Amino acid sequence: MSITILGIESSCDDTSAAVIKDGYLFSNIISGQKVHENYGGVVPELASRAHQQHIVPVVYQAFEESGINKESVDAVAFTRGPGLLGSLMVGSSFAKAFAVARDIPIIGVNHLQAHILAHFIRNPNKPEEEIPEFPFLCLLVSGGHTQLVKVNSYFDMQIIGQTIDDAAGEAFDKTGKIMGLPYPAGPVIDKYAKQGNPQAFKFTKPKIEGLNYSFSGLKTAILYFLRDKVKQDTDFIKNNFNDLCASIQHTIIQILMEKLILAAEQTGIKEVAIAGGVSANSEMKKKLQQEADQRNWKVHIPQLQYTMDNAGMIAITGYYKYQKQSFDSLNVVPEARFKY
Ligand code: KG4
Ligand code: ZN
Repeated sequence: MSITILGIESSCDDTSAAVIKDGYLFSNIISGQKVHENYGGVVPELASRAHQQHIVPVVYQAFEESGINKESVDAVAFTRGPGLLGSLMVGSSFAKAFAVARDIPIIGVNHLQAHILAHFIRNPNKPEEEIPEFPFLCLLVSGGHTQLVKVNSYFDMQIIGQTIDDAAGEAFDKTGKIMGLPYPAGPVIDKYAKQGNPQAFKFTKPKIEGLNYSFSGLKTAILYFLRDKVKQDTDFIKNNFNDLCASIQHTIIQILMEKLILAAEQTGIKEVAIAGGVSANSEMKKKLQQEADQRNWKVHIPQLQYTMDNAGMIAITGYYKYQKQSFDSLNVVPEARFKY
């Protein structure tokens, strides 16, 4: 039996809709929100309003691009959480309305599980593309989360390490803000780091036991370091911009990689994946590949459109939940702090 899923993602500042048929992605429309750029982070109320504006056009575009009509959809999968409540409500209300109009089930999806299951999205033009084999390790690094996950099967995921304060994406965004960069700073730091020296400045790494992470100390260390340097030379940031970007990025990626290596050693797993917005980082991808070559890992690095927040990952999770007939009732509510 053929299964077609409409996916809706609206947990933060991207409005997205995707159509997946039998595990193959036919469209994945992502509409970002520029309104937050000057605020150093996402402003929840502005995000909810922008989702309201974008959701219908984004869904129409997803159908148009997929070549699949809305009458063929078997279920609507939407992000139930975690995320910003107002933003989640836009997506969940849309999903319910669509499902009622078509008399089809709804499927609430955990956004973090979806980031991981994005690895199982198949491309109709490249059906031979490899997908991870269970069990695998996934380093999930986004603007809101940093987790090391042992993925035993589609819905059996064990969090074996996580950040005790800031997420890795926040470490990029908050240090970027200190340097005067717009939100999100991660991609900008990545771009300028390419022309800088990663050894130019040294920042102490946190000493956290086991597989957990911490990034708030690094952010504070960078804040004080720059404050002192700018006192001596007001143009310090401008004159050392590329080196600062390279050194900050290098430190964050080193912190991420050390615990990932430890997790692989402790579990004995050699199948390793990355997921979430920060996995788009060029040094992250390079370091992961280097470690893989040295340690005989098989690595899975997702395409950019699947690492950032997107509805393709929601739709693929919905596809696997549909197979288990795991549906939600129409009075289900979004959860800002949704655990899996
Ligand atoms: O997964 P995502 O799109 O949204 C969340 O669920 O948070 O991740 C967004 C985060 C932001 O913090 C952004 O700065 C970071 O991913 N990011 C990057 C890069 N591209 C996005 N960080 C470092 N290097 C990049 N190239
Ligand atoms: Zn995300």
